[in-house]
Amino acid sequence: MKARILVTALVTASMAFGAFAQNHSFDIDLKKVGAPIQPTMDGIFFEDSNFAADGGLYAELVKNRSFEFPNALQGWKSFGRVEILDDGPFDRCPHYARLKDPGHKDKQTGLENEGFFGIGMEAGKEYSFTVWARVPDGGEGAIRIELVTPASMGENQFFTQDRIRISGAQWKKYEAVIKPGVTDPKAVLRIFLEAPRTTIDLEHVSLIPGDALEGVYRRDLAEALADLQPGIFRFPGGCIVEGTDLDTRYNWKNSVGPVENRPINENRWEDTFPHRLYPDYYQSYGLGFYEFFRLSELIGSEPLPILSCGLACQFQNDDMSAHVPVDELGPYIQDALDLIEFANGSTDTKWGALRASMGHPEPFNLKYLGIGNEQWDAIYPERLEPFVAALRKQHPEIKLVGSAGPNSEGDQFDFLWPEMKRLGADLVDEHFYRPEAWFLSQGSRYDNYDRKGPKVFAGEYACHGVGRKYNHFHASLLEAAFMTGLERNADIVHMATYAPLFAHVEGWQWRPDLIWYDNLRSMRTASWHVQHLYGLYKGENVLTLTMDGAPVTGAEGQDGLFASAVKDGNLIYVKVANTSESSRDLSFNFTGLKKKDADPVAVERVVFTSDSLYEDNTLDDPDAIVPVEVPFSGSGRTIGATVPPQSFTVFVFER
Ligand code: AHR
Repeated sequence: MKARILVTALVTASMAFGAFAQNHSFDIDLKKVGAPIQPTMDGIFFEDSNFAADGGLYAELVKNRSFEFPNALQGWKSFGRVEILDDGPFDRCPHYARLKDPGHKDKQTGLENEGFFGIGMEAGKEYSFTVWARVPDGGEGAIRIELVTPASMGENQFFTQDRIRISGAQWKKYEAVIKPGVTDPKAVLRIFLEAPRTTIDLEHVSLIPGDALEGVYRRDLAEALADLQPGIFRFPGGCIVEGTDLDTRYNWKNSVGPVENRPINENRWEDTFPHRLYPDYYQSYGLGFYEFFRLSELIGSEPLPILSCGLACQFQNDDMSAHVPVDELGPYIQDALDLIEFANGSTDTKWGALRASMGHPEPFNLKYLGIGNEQWDAIYPERLEPFVAALRKQHPEIKLVGSAGPNSEGDQFDFLWPEMKRLGADLVDEHFYRPEAWFLSQGSRYDNYDRKGPKVFAGEYACHGVGRKYNHFHASLLEAAFMTGLERNADIVHMATYAPLFAHVEGWQWRPDLIWYDNLRSMRTASWHVQHLYGLYKGENVLTLTMDGAPVTGAEGQDGLFASAVKDGNLIYVKVANTSESSRDLSFNFTGLKKKDADPVAVERVVFTSDSLYEDNTLDDPDAIVPVEVPFSGSGRTIGATVPPQSFTVFVFER
């Protein structure tokens, strides 16, 4: 049995196994083993919106660490005599700061970095400070580094400090480990000249918590991903792939190589929403394609990069001049070919050698690649076509993902699906951020899909409640209900990823999201728990489950019930979402057993429900709404149970 982090609850009257009217009879056929459930079925979608990378999963605590923002001191406060120069040691990030003697013994020269909504520091935890520095005129100097509570927060006091001696006119990397004695989510990093106050140049100032996974990933957030056991990891988005314009599209080649030399990119979510403006939102690319591939490996997912097809975000660009003409797509197609070489190529190829130099000589074993995010109109297939031709020719082993546009149905959707089929896409990426009624009506969405065409990738979805476009339990319940249809149709649905994934409580542009955090704490939403349950009880093959001969899809007359069944070795997992306001009595009838076969035995029941339908977990109360194990026993070819109103339950039987 897999490790499961669930709370065990006392049996409540409504959940108890006991007297019930068996008016919802689920027939589960154990004779016929259905389609295999792809290991990629349940996964995660990462996009650097909502401060998901810098300020989120990327553990770097210093904003604008290389002084490369258009306003070179954005994120910094300077005091004394500070200059910005641009002939530094890293050609793609040439700026650096020069600190000079303030000219009076009682004055200071230095810098303070505000971090991302402050710098979260925890008492007793180690933080690794690094900086590239030199004494331009030769000789020796020193800097003092401190973590302090900013003056604006009241008492201006430092909690930890260290002195670093800098010597010589050559750029060198210096390191110090600091350990604050106090916890503060909004500290600042202060650096200032110390005696002998010789001029010192500073470049790429970094502060990373000592517990960051591999020194890169914020630990609690990485763990929240790993716990989902995701089969597929899509990155880097989302619209960020396309950019507000082509200049701001995600350029994977800028995101690899030494972090000191990765040029920043204006984050395309910086000013998309005037009511949620973040004029200091840039991508450091510290979490770049190497780090995404590596994270896929660490959490056991297949990587699925999505690349620009040469169309800038179509929501923001009506004019064809914003896009790459079809006959000029060469460099974009080359980017795709080079990415495959970066991921899988031998170490004697250009890009494979770069991967090796970054610490990973073994290939990442890339199998999937998406071209284009949410694209539409004929301008998309006509661009996709030359990509497909080149990729099929050179890399027939790579499965290609095309887009069905931004809508779950409608003209564009109807136009793009046959186009994807014509072009031979292996998977089609469908997106649906839709309201409650849509989710309730889509239990059978895939039951009648064309089995001969591409497979389905439900690449971005979440229930957006009408008037309640934020995280709450009810939305997660409807997602759980809808997912029974994904599972039942595992022969055609090969991947599904909820979106967006991450959000900083002080820096979001989109909601709902799967995981929320501030500088020190994180919270897994009810939707996360639904994804978690699907990950834990994934199973190997679909089993046929019917009620009165029909799949249980929330259809009229099915009393708000949605259900699916899978087998996992000798275990049977039955998932039941009861979206109605009444409890429902069920009986599980196991068919297809031979006389001599042993009877199934009830072994486990996990119930996810809440009295607070429109609430969710919070940073202060992160476990307010969690699935609980409820005792479950019984054996035989018919086993009964009751499911509470508005609940999602996973039943486990053994045979
Ligand atoms: O997830 C937020 C955005 O929604 C994605 O960037 C985009 O693909 C979709 O429109």
